[in-house]
Amino acid sequence: MTVNLEQLRRCHFAVDLGAARTRVYVKGAGLVIDQPSAAAVNSRSGALIAVGEFAERMTGRTPDYIQVVRPIAGGTVVDIEMAHRMLRQLLGDKTRRALRRNLRLRAAACAPHGADPLAQRAITETLVGLGARRVELVDTLIAAAVGCGLPVERPEATMILMCGAASTQVAVLSLGSIVAAVRIPVGGDAVDHAIVQHLRHHHELLLPGQSVRPLQVALSGNGITSQGPAEAEIHGRDVVTGLPRSVRVDTAAVRDAIQTPLTGVLDGIGKVLRDCQPDLVADLADRGIVMVGGSALLPGLDHMLRQATGMPVHIAEQPDICAVQGLGAMLEGRIEPLVLNPMAA
Ligand SMILES: Nc1ncnc2c1ncn2[C@@H]1O[C@H](COP(=O)(O)OP(=O)(O)OP(=O)(O)O)[C@@H](O)[C@H]1O
Ligand SMILES: [Mg+2]
Repeated sequence: MTVNLEQLRRCHFAVDLGAARTRVYVKGAGLVIDQPSAAAVNSRSGALIAVGEFAERMTGRTPDYIQVVRPIAGGTVVDIEMAHRMLRQLLGDKTRRALRRNLRLRAAACAPHGADPLAQRAITETLVGLGARRVELVDTLIAAAVGCGLPVERPEATMILMCGAASTQVAVLSLGSIVAAVRIPVGGDAVDHAIVQHLRHHHELLLPGQSVRPLQVALSGNGITSQGPAEAEIHGRDVVTGLPRSVRVDTAAVRDAIQTPLTGVLDGIGKVLRDCQPDLVADLADRGIVMVGGSALLPGLDHMLRQATGMPVHIAEQPDICAVQGLGAMLEGRIEPLVLNPMAA
């Protein structure tokens, strides 16, 4: 997947289809949509009832005949038809009408690093279903690096850690390209899952999905680092009786539970560093790692990475929207193409 800035500049809108959130940037208008990738469907008639924020709020609270579905799972569009119906609804009539005014509608989208041809095709088909005549795909890591202002086009190494919901992607970039990268199938969802499982096994408490975030917040002060409070009170449902109950949770034990998925991320960083030339690794020791993606906001994750790698770790400004903002910058022509002048003979 090579970035063709000339073609990207001719696109009218850009989409980041994430496992957790869908984001759309419209040329000239900016980021117009940042909503959960969820749709509520009437399973009897197949009609769409709600999308985005509304649909997500319905999760776990619906009668039998309403189903909340997530058309994007594990970073891949798994239900193309539903994904494009969801996008259509999210965009709304006004934006869709404005986009349709372009005779040959062109779209850009980011695809996870190493996405196979089938996954790439699914993203393209989703946007074609929305009326796009041509779709440009950009590696999420490059889009995010551009979006957070990393000097990707210079002959210096920069390391980016994309902490998404379904996966974590790590890359070293230099001269506008990816030098080494891995994608680890562990993200914010795996961290949430580890917390839910811990409470279930050690406190016989069922925690609704939406309550995991308050627990993470309760863990801060310094989040998953050891300087946070020793205990936090959590409300949930007793596994056996089904009655509401609250427990005092030992935060050190929750931190341990989170460590397991995070070990995979550390292994990934190690692998990328081993795949790089020593010169690049020397650059990285100074410049460190830039974290992007929604899970970069997990309290204390940056501190943990700093301790584990001994490298400086920075969280990008607005880390969750870096990828779509990067695509936006390419659409608006704010990115200068990399010109490598062949030396005169
Ligand atoms: N303040 C926060 N604290 C902790 N975690 C957060 C916070 N905000 C978002 N997250 C987590 O970030 C994840 C969403 O990140 P992001 O929006 O980058 O995902 P995505 O792009 O939809 O997923 P992917 O790129 O993996 O397909 C969710 O797992 C969410 O729990
Ligand atoms: Mg993402």
